[in-house]
Order: sequence, then structure tokens, then C-alpha cells
Amino acid sequence: MTAADDLHSALLADLAAAGRLSPQWRDDFTRVPRHRFIPETVWLDEDGEPVPLRRADSPDEWLRACYADRPLITQLDDGDGSGHGYSSSSASMPTTVAMMLAALDLRPGMRVLEIGTGTGYNAALLAARAGAERVTSLDVDPAVAERARASLKAAGWPVNVVTADGTAGYPPAAPYDRVLATAAVQRVPYAWVAQTAPGGRIVTPWGTAFHNGALLHLRVRADGTASGRFGGNSAFMWVRGQRLPHGAVEDRVRPEHDCTQTVTELHPHYALADFDASFAIGVRVPAMKPVVVFDNDDPGGGAYTAYLLDPFAESWASWRVEPGTCRFPVRQHGPRRLFDELRAAYMWWADAGRPAHTRFGLTVDRAGQAVWLDGPERRVG
Ligand SMILES: C[S@@+](CC[C@H](N)C(=O)[O-])C[C@H]1O[C@@H](n2cnc3c(N)ncnc32)[C@H](O)[C@@H]1O
Repeated sequence: MTAADDLHSALLADLAAAGRLSPQWRDDFTRVPRHRFIPETVWLDEDGEPVPLRRADSPDEWLRACYADRPLITQLDDGDGSGHGYSSSSASMPTTVAMMLAALDLRPGMRVLEIGTGTGYNAALLAARAGAERVTSLDVDPAVAERARASLKAAGWPVNVVTADGTAGYPPAAPYDRVLATAAVQRVPYAWVAQTAPGGRIVTPWGTAFHNGALLHLRVRADGTASGRFGGNSAFMWVRGQRLPHGAVEDRVRPEHDCTQTVTELHPHYALADFDASFAIGVRVPAMKPVVVFDNDDPGGGAYTAYLLDPFAESWASWRVEPGTCRFPVRQHGPRRLFDELRAAYMWWADAGRPAHTRFGLTVDRAGQAVWLDGPERRVG
């Protein structure tokens, strides 16, 4: 047994003991060593900052990171060297990989399309289960796709990796029995539905500017529509064409801006930190991005400002929390009253009985998508 074998076995044993690795997938995970897919340089997310870890400098630490239950950033800034520091490709956390594969219900012999090849690790797992010749995996980034193609071939899983925008699907290998996206969408592309056989499934992380995101499980019907519910926390990077503009709060919130000022008794925690509340708010409000800024970068200090930003226009709101108070000053700037919109959405959710995100679902047809609560007849977004 090598050190990698030991670490690999220990990770799978831990995932299984925690109930995070379905027995159906255990053999496949055993056959695919994760470190064969991880690049020589990765970045660990330390409090939002990418910290590099190079195999050449710290081989033992690198190997331990490959078999830790955490995501590894594998590319920054689309690989353009611009230094903004946002993650543009990663190897997802093993728990998340296992959760999504369990939801896919992939069986031997099925044809499957993956959107977001990344390192190729997930594609290898799909290949272990379905057969490499039945797996097509798309990545929009040529360098990422090329690297994954080579890793998959070297590890014995010669999946067809195509450099392409996955939101168009891949008609040459359709129809698929299963479509799995490992990058998040705000709008489910109809191409995925059109290229999936009736009865087939689509599993994708889905989110909004407000909330990223939940796992969406769709089933495709013979009439060319797809419908299904949300279930599970799955925060993912967006597919490139649906990214929100990057922008620092200090560039958007300017001292010279005119503001209206009010006070609220609604604590930001209830709207931002409650998974189900923030999921529902995201469904109800159009483009609105929350950003929390702690005083002196100190989450333990208790004082912070929650900003609400319109990612595409100039409106913003700020919502200030000081320890020991229960009335929170709100300032709003621009044509949209973002705090008022958020509050109305929060009250809608509270009045609806605080539904869990699992009570929401989504239907996709040629005309677009509709989010519903409890059933398609109760459209809410
Ligand atoms: C979280 S990573 C995927 C992880 C991967 N499945 C693995 O096992 O390592 C997301 C990937 O989606 C890719 N991506 C982003 N937008 C895309 C698009 N429109 N079409 C295809 N791939 C896309 C990124 O380049 C990135 O490599």
C-alpha cells in the first residue's frame, strides 16, 4: 500500500461512516484515485483567500489535501494571470461529488453528459460506473479540458472531453440518459432538456444572485419539458455565461451617494444565514447580491454591515448591525429600494409558513423556467 492508497481508503471510510457515500458508488470511488486528477499547483481557500500549495514544495501536504474532504481550487481568473483571485476551476469537495452522483442514479450502460470537466475526477467516476465510451464531458476552458483529457487517458478512463460551452449541451452524442452539471446555473438551458431522453434525469446546482445554491433534480418528460424539486446545499461556481459581474463594495457604495435612511427590527442573520429563507428570497427578488463586511475584518467582533447590491445597476442598500442592539439602520440608494424588496420577499416566505427549499421545484420548457412551491400550479418565481 502506498501513502496515497492509505489516504484514499481513509477518506472513503470516513465518507461512508458519515453516510455521505452511497453503497451503490463505493466500488467506483475505490477504483478512481483522486490525486491522479489534481494539478501540481492548487489553492486552498483560507477565509476567502486562495493560498497556493505546490506539490514540488510540499509533496506530503499536497497528497493529504488530495484526500481531504475539501474543495481544491485548480485555476484562478480563467488562467489569465490577471490576479483578481477568483476561482474559475476546482475539484469539488468529495462529499459534494458523492451527493451529486447519488442523486444522478447513474446505472451501467447509460449515456451521460457532464458539464464542467474541471480536473476530470468526476468524469472518471462517471466512466467507472457507466463505461468511458458512454461519457461525454464538456469544459469551456481549453487548457482545463486539455489537462483533464490527458489525466483521464493516463488513469485509464478515456472519456470524450470536448472544449465547448456546456450550456449548449453536445448534440453529437445525444440523447443522454443523464445530464450532470458541476457548474451552477441561474437559468437551466433548454438544450439539456432537448438532449435528454424521456424519463432521463438532469442534476444541476441552481442558484440566484442572492443565494448560491441548491441542487436541482429534474426529470425529463415525453412532452419535451422537465420538472423536479430542489434538495441539498450545493454552492458552485457559475457557468461562465451566467456569472455575475465582479466588483468590490467600495467601488459601488460611494460616500457622495444620496440615500434614504430607515431603521428595521429584522436582523440580517434571519434573511442571509437561514438557508431556506435566503433560497426563497433569491427566488422572489430579481438580481440582488448580498455582501457582508465585518468591521476590521473581524467576524468575532459582532459589528458588521450587510450590503445588498444590484449587480447590473447602481442601486445598493446597507444594513448595519452593532452588538447589543435590536434596531438596525438601513440606507438605500438608487432607483431600486433593495432592502424593501428583500423585506417583502422575507415576509412572503415567513407568511408562507417558512417553507424549506425542498418544497420548491422548477419546470423547464422551450419558453424558459418557472419556479414553484409544492406543485407547478403555485408559481412563485
Ligand atoms: C467546479 S469545476 C468542475 C469540477 C469537475 N467536475 C471535477 O471533477 O473536477 C467547474 C468547471 O466548469 C467549467 N465551466 C464553467 N462554465 C462552463 C460552461 N459554460 N461550459 C462548460 N464548462 C464550464 C469551468 O471551466 C470549471 O472547470
